[in-house]
Amino acid sequence: MQAEVAIIGGGPSGLLLSQLLNRAGIETVILERASRNHVLGRIRAGVLEAGTVDMLREAGVSGRLDREGILHEGCYLTDNDLMVRIDFRALTGKHVTVYGQTEVTADLYMALDELGTTVLHGVEDVTLSDLEQPRSVVEFTYEGARKRIDCLFVAGCDGFHGVSRNAIPGDRRREFERTYPFGWLGVLSPVPPCEEELIYANSERGFALASMRNQNLSRYYIQVPMSDRPEQWSDDEFWTELRRRLPSETAARMQTGPSIEKSVAPLRSFVSEPLRWGNLFLVGDAAHIVPPTGAKGLNLAVADVHYLYQALIDSIRSNDRTGIDNYSERALTRIWKAMRFSWQMTMMLHRFEDEDDFASEMRRATLGHLAASETARRDLAENYVGLPFWPTGKDVPWTRPFPRLSRPWRESRAVPCS
Ligand code: APR
Ligand code: PHB
Repeated sequence: MQAEVAIIGGGPSGLLLSQLLNRAGIETVILERASRNHVLGRIRAGVLEAGTVDMLREAGVSGRLDREGILHEGCYLTDNDLMVRIDFRALTGKHVTVYGQTEVTADLYMALDELGTTVLHGVEDVTLSDLEQPRSVVEFTYEGARKRIDCLFVAGCDGFHGVSRNAIPGDRRREFERTYPFGWLGVLSPVPPCEEELIYANSERGFALASMRNQNLSRYYIQVPMSDRPEQWSDDEFWTELRRRLPSETAARMQTGPSIEKSVAPLRSFVSEPLRWGNLFLVGDAAHIVPPTGAKGLNLAVADVHYLYQALIDSIRSNDRTGIDNYSERALTRIWKAMRFSWQMTMMLHRFEDEDDFASEMRRATLGHLAASETARRDLAENYVGLPFWPTGKDVPWTRPFPRLSRPWRESRAVPCS
């Protein structure tokens, strides 16, 4: 098989990259390990930054999103009964759109089918080779037979557990990781949301999040020990604990119902540098993982695609390699800012088992400052609605190259969150 770009992974990253490249006449093949139904059955976050909506519109897949997406001009942060509204519109002039990642993925698959894009499901044993040669080779097993694709570029869109990242030699990769000592127990229930906007709740009992998919489908989360399994929690126990973590007025009016999905997700911060090795480019979860507290996972993946797709087109069509040569540095600059925001939101809103009273007071003071300071609320709002893809004229450039400490390459190590 021949392709200009071989894409490993048929999740949001791979699908969006393929759609944008195909619309520009670039030939792609997507290799996906799971079945399409399995991919479409994944329940993920559902908050889209304005930049993400723009990219989906550019890809020609925003029709249903424009009809069914819910515009949110703010969200709430709470500390027991203290509720602080972050007014995105007033503070940034922007809003976010609530639209499930599952729907984004379904819209992308439908668009790729209309274009006749080759997406192979049930692919196994993908290997990458000749990444530093003019043309690279992707080999894989499909329907029991060993196959081979000769391509110009490989996009590693195969998520955290994929093979692409490890195709970069270990002594040339630098990995950064924080694992958090808790998870999120999530429930999807066909009941109206308890509030029109999202509520990020901090309480003595731990974190909770009240979100939604539409006016008749709510998505709720509570912080639980990492060891918890969904089957340990009955629906009644979940609703009771959730009510204890939300402001009493909100809890009183909350409608409860059956869980149609219940799962526990771990929380992790992770970055792997660089994002490029020869003809291989890492995109989305293959390169980075953020805790869901900042709703950045899908949005960061889309930002990577924003930087990469035009760079690949320029290289293939005009032999202009500027974009691909700058991809890793450009994407990482924005990735690290989103990484910081997601880490900060996680530290601010979750209780740590061994935390002392000082840590609790720090959290309360942070939330109290947000209530009192428009500047603090603007900082949070700017990050939540999404930083610009490109530095704006208002950004003050560093007066000298950013002092990246020159440390020897080191293996990744899971560092307990301090
Ligand atoms: N071969 C082929 N496909 C693979 C392989 C492999 N070896 N390993 C993983 N995959 C597939 C997975 O089955 C999955 O469908 O790659 C895809 C990766 O998709 P995601 O994990 O969704 O990552 P990404 O497309 O970058 O999207 C990021 O998805 O998981 C959420 O929170 C995350 O919102 C973020 C978004
Ligand atoms: C969700 O609706 O699933 C969701 C929303 C916001 C987050 C995380 C998850 O920060």
